[in-house]
Amino acid sequence: MVKKEWLEKGFVSEPIDASLNLQTEIRKLCKEKNAVIMAHYYTEGVIQDVADFVGDSLALAQKAAKTNADIIVMCGVHFMGETNKILCPNKKVLVPDLNATCSLAESCPADEFSKFVAEHPNHTVISYVNTTAATKAVTDVVVTSSNARQIVESFPADTPIIFGPDQNLGGYINSITGRNMLLWNGACHVHEKFSVEKIIELKKAYPQAKVLAHPECKGAVVKLADVVGSTAALLKYAIKNDADVFIVATESGILHEMQKSCPQKKFIPAPPSDSTCACNECNYMRLITLEKLYNTLKYEWPEIIVDKEIADKAIRPIHRMLEISEKLGL
Ligand code: 13P
Ligand code: SF4
Repeated sequence: MVKKEWLEKGFVSEPIDASLNLQTEIRKLCKEKNAVIMAHYYTEGVIQDVADFVGDSLALAQKAAKTNADIIVMCGVHFMGETNKILCPNKKVLVPDLNATCSLAESCPADEFSKFVAEHPNHTVISYVNTTAATKAVTDVVVTSSNARQIVESFPADTPIIFGPDQNLGGYINSITGRNMLLWNGACHVHEKFSVEKIIELKKAYPQAKVLAHPECKGAVVKLADVVGSTAALLKYAIKNDADVFIVATESGILHEMQKSCPQKKFIPAPPSDSTCACNECNYMRLITLEKLYNTLKYEWPEIIVDKEIADKAIRPIHRMLEISEKLGL
């Protein structure tokens, strides 16, 4: 029975016996309930370590589409839970804190985006996965940072395209493909804040360092990068590259897996312009704690529910993305 207090808070706020080893209890609950824990690279290290699967947005969607579990606990933000629910309508999908939204998804309200789409008829609508289900419902094909380039290029060069909501990712794809997609002017509050000047200073201090940047960063940061890619692509580069110092311009949660995979290498989080805040941490991702994860599994709440009419529309562009990605071996 869902308590009023939980509804008000957006998560289960029951006290937990302090003597419990939460990692052990979480794994026990997963076994008992045939639940699977998926975590994004931006969550706290302790969450990534207890998860069954850690990945970037594309890998998480691909994994959800194939899981045999009865319950999926998505340790990430709300749109990731929605994507899982749309892909697996008969499974219970849980997100440990409903307040874990995404500034990028919120920068693109479905009603305003629909109006923009209606004002530009004959355009193919491509939306980044960081959107609400309602925005996906007015989209032709979804992309992630792992497949955006290839999916855009799968359309003939003269196809008029609307790309939303991330203007930085859209601008980057325009620059590498020579396309002229119409861009929605959304942005991520974490990726927008990296300081070009401070990255240049770090490069002076560590001349051999490689700069890794997520395409959600501003163009001026992306220009400084040795490699631009999704969280999984940046991780792969860091593992394969011979350099021993890396400046990482994306949410700092990814450093956990980088450091774990390459203990002998040095990873420096790119600093934000405002040195007084931890702006390179996504405050939404960090809402997912071990305590909330444990309570979520125990009480099977908060559950993600997607309106059926919206889900029926949003599934098409998500499936289209997965089909194209599979065809391209991504
Ligand atoms: P990827 O993991 O696809 O690179 O996405 C980054 C992101 O911002 C997720 O919110
Ligand atoms: Fe959204 Fe930015 Fe957080 Fe990613 S890092 S979940 S884009 S707010």
